Amino acid sequence: MALPASDLTKQPDNRTTMELGAVLPRTAEVNDGHLFIGGVDMVELAREQGTALYVYDEEDLLARMRTYRDSFHALYPNSDVVYASKAFLNKEVARMAQREGLCLDVSGGGEFACSQMVGFPASRVFMHGNNKTPRELREAISAGVGRIIIDSRIELGRISEIAGELGVVQDIYMRITPGVEADTHEYIRTGCEDSKFGFTMNDDFAFRCVADVLAAPNVRLAGLHCHIGSQIFALHSFKEAAAVMVNLMARIEAAYGYRIEELDLGGGLGIAYTADDKPSTIEQFAEMTTTAVKECCAELGVSLPRLLVEPGRSLVANAGVTLYTIGILKTLPGIRKYVAVDGGMSDNIRTALYHAVYEPAIANKADQPRTEIVTLAGKHCESGDAVVVDMPLQHPDLGDIVCVFGTGAYCYAMASNYNGQPRPAVVFVRDGQARVVTRRETYADVFGRDI
Ligand code: LLP
Repeated sequence: MALPASDLTKQPDNRTTMELGAVLPRTAEVNDGHLFIGGVDMVELAREQGTALYVYDEEDLLARMRTYRDSFHALYPNSDVVYASKAFLNKEVARMAQREGLCLDVSGGGEFACSQMVGFPASRVFMHGNNKTPRELREAISAGVGRIIIDSRIELGRISEIAGELGVVQDIYMRITPGVEADTHEYIRTGCEDSKFGFTMNDDFAFRCVADVLAAPNVRLAGLHCHIGSQIFALHSFKEAAAVMVNLMARIEAAYGYRIEELDLGGGLGIAYTADDKPSTIEQFAEMTTTAVKECCAELGVSLPRLLVEPGRSLVANAGVTLYTIGILKTLPGIRKYVAVDGGMSDNIRTALYHAVYEPAIANKADQPRTEIVTLAGKHCESGDAVVVDMPLQHPDLGDIVCVFGTGAYCYAMASNYNGQPRPAVVFVRDGQARVVTRRETYADVFGRDI
């Protein structure tokens, strides 16, 4: 698929790198024209480690984890922040989440396995997935996974049976589809009625299924869960979802005489992908959700549940950037200017998949204004392979190091080996030091499983 036609009237914004606002990682600075993150020169780092390269600002990651944890605890002591590891998972970020007192949301057996490899307490792991396999369920239950979020009645039966065989009672949540339409891309919208996820509220189905859940042996209904979507800017969507969920808790208590002790409102807080984006802050999100839950509970006479949220993107996206080297320049007059980099849809599929928009800057010209409109094309055999489409950039030359901001979520996590491309290394930077936390793949890694 080709790229959408360029808007040839688009003007460069002449911003320098430090004028890119909330897309920048917290410690970004420019010294002598070079971009530094965590006190490390991105141009030197690219030379040392090669490109494409994922770089995370460790201080930024820690600050976001702490802000989430502290703002929820301050407003709502009986709460936990569950890091949605699907956004970015490797062993080091799992260790970091554990040290910072977060719980972990894993989607399926692979992410669960990573959590166990680093000794993340299984009791603080929440397992998701709309079709967890019997093997994934068995491994998680026997390891003592804290909560399994069930997605269907079929799965209820499966978990009940496996827990019975293992002689345990498994704590579960029911995932509810609350029918709230969040304002985001349709592919990542999940809370609306046409969804493969969860128990629908249509025809009161979810409410009726509670009877089955309460009757099932070897499981305990510990809570309810919902996730209305991702990259959400309008905080009122979370308030609406909270109201639907607390209302359901009240009805369950009235009809079944069963108190729901925990409420998990999922993730979804939006982040800045462009310099003009003004997402809500973590503190505002905490204020909105905790107030909504408290008010609805007071109104309906429901006792306050333990509250959980599952942020992914808003914890990691702006802490991460991707570095590339410019290898080819090609200007098609009256069409667009292509700047080809040494990565692409294999390390960032989001542009091709969701028409995601990213801000780029040249790390070795970081103090210069972005005077051109360019498309950063990838190196893959596909016309739609681009990381950045028609965005301002400093004047590009061969060999320049381009930094694409806001790539910390769902880029490494969704990376592939398309065209046999080894996946990039992941480097954490802090206090002038860079450490490789995931090494670059080799060709032997990519083809080593082949017989
Ligand atoms: N909880 C559940 C049950 C989820 O399904 C998700 C994301 C989250 C939490 C975290 O949501 P966040 O805070 O990151 O918005 N690949 C897409 C995003 C898919 C999100 C899937 N679920 C993207 O690149 O935009």
